[in-house]
Amino acid sequence: MAEAMAVIMAAGEGKRMKSKFPKPLFTLCGRPMLEYILEAACEATGAKPVIIVGKDGQQIFSGYAERADFAVQEVQRGTGHAVMMARKYLEKGPELVLVIAGDTPLIAAKTLKRLIAAAGNASAAVLTAKFQDPSGYGRIIRNGDQVAKIIEERDCSPKEKAINEINASMYCFKTKKLLAALDGLENDNAQGEYYLTDCIAILAGKGERVAAVETTEEECLGINDREQLAMVRRLIAKRINRRLMMEGVTLIDPGDTYIDYGVRIGRDTVVYPGVFLEGSTEVGEDCILYPGSRINGSVIGNGVKIQNSVILQSSIGDGSVIGPYAYLRPNSHIGKKCRVGDFVEVKNSEIGDGSKVSHLSYIGDGVVGKDCNIGCGAVFVNYDGANKYKTIVEDGVFIGCNVNLIAPVTVKKDAYIAAGSTVTDDVPEGALCIGRERQVIKEGWREKWLKNKDLK
Ligand code: UD1
Ligand code: CA
Repeated sequence: MAEAMAVIMAAGEGKRMKSKFPKPLFTLCGRPMLEYILEAACEATGAKPVIIVGKDGQQIFSGYAERADFAVQEVQRGTGHAVMMARKYLEKGPELVLVIAGDTPLIAAKTLKRLIAAAGNASAAVLTAKFQDPSGYGRIIRNGDQVAKIIEERDCSPKEKAINEINASMYCFKTKKLLAALDGLENDNAQGEYYLTDCIAILAGKGERVAAVETTEEECLGINDREQLAMVRRLIAKRINRRLMMEGVTLIDPGDTYIDYGVRIGRDTVVYPGVFLEGSTEVGEDCILYPGSRINGSVIGNGVKIQNSVILQSSIGDGSVIGPYAYLRPNSHIGKKCRVGDFVEVKNSEIGDGSKVSHLSYIGDGVVGKDCNIGCGAVFVNYDGANKYKTIVEDGVFIGCNVNLIAPVTVKKDAYIAAGSTVTDDVPEGALCIGRERQVIKEGWREKWLKNKDLK
């Protein structure tokens, strides 16, 4: 059995978020807050943690069912009460228990390890930090190098309020000592709650040793409202961006570049401001991501240039140029050295190497071969109001401007489609298809028209 297990408190209502969603699932750089904490806790303890969840928590957090056990706190009566709900796990648990809040995602595993080590020589250890502005946090009342007590801000005297050392809401207890202290908890405070923090005064009051482990302000930032959410997001983004820059990616203005946690970017790629790279997006080497794109869950090759475009769950091959103002909807696969230009929408389609769709087109449910040219304003007419159909354009095809391809339809290799055609039937290899009215000229038409008009 591991030396320590973790209990993560995540049952709070998160009232200050003013949301219908549970706070631990709010994302920071594309990853739920809880995920950061869970990862740090698992790394520090090497054991499966227990997450304390609210009434419907097991459903809400079902995504974590394999990586954690759940304890349910039906009614929120405070952090002490929350930990009581994990009693059954604690009673058969290891010697030490790490108790952490579900709203402090910046915590590093190595700091939690320090906390565990400190509890080895004490009954408990409390993580603290000196804050520039401690308001909202519980204050640490010291007794030398030990913690005598933690006072919630609401219960502080003016003198105690001036203390700037705060309780990070991360503790490591000798499990047996915690269980005994929980039995002694009362709720006679400003909130009428059972405060976990009072366990510290209970232990210290019995002459037990409670160590203080100090760390940085940044690691201890808690998220109670959306302003703090934005602040912590910025700090996580800074870490992500710093790592990418160290790996050889140029971020022209890292403060204005929005890259999710799981994104990977190759060397010598340049990212301009206002670019959003989301989910598990991978970008190759030597790309230029000009301003204003959102790329979600997509794979971008090497040497690709993208500007002001939206790319969702799609892929783009090496050397292609996308945008400005292209819209690639899910499952679009663009080959190498392609061009997808302005106001082109692509959906659930493949475009082969070297093909160009330069302006104002809709490619839906299509397969376009290699080295094709799709003229300005071409539309793959894929929907009849009930069903969707496929358009196949084989290698080397030239499609003129303003062509409608009425799916299902196939344009065979090296065929040409005249501008303005509406193509309803398959086009054979190498043929020219003209699917439009022949032009008619009526000489002197205006003169005749004017005469007729006078008669009326
Ligand atoms: C808590 C600490 C405070 C500390 C601060 C650090 C207490 C009493 N106060 O205050 O000393 O400085 O964190 O961020 O512990 N939760 C439950 N069940 C409940 C209540 C809360 O599971 O009944 C969970 C919440 O989901 C949250 C965590 O416990 O993840 C902390 O609760 P929160 O209400 O945010 O406490 P703070 O007021 O921030
Ligand atoms: Ca909090």
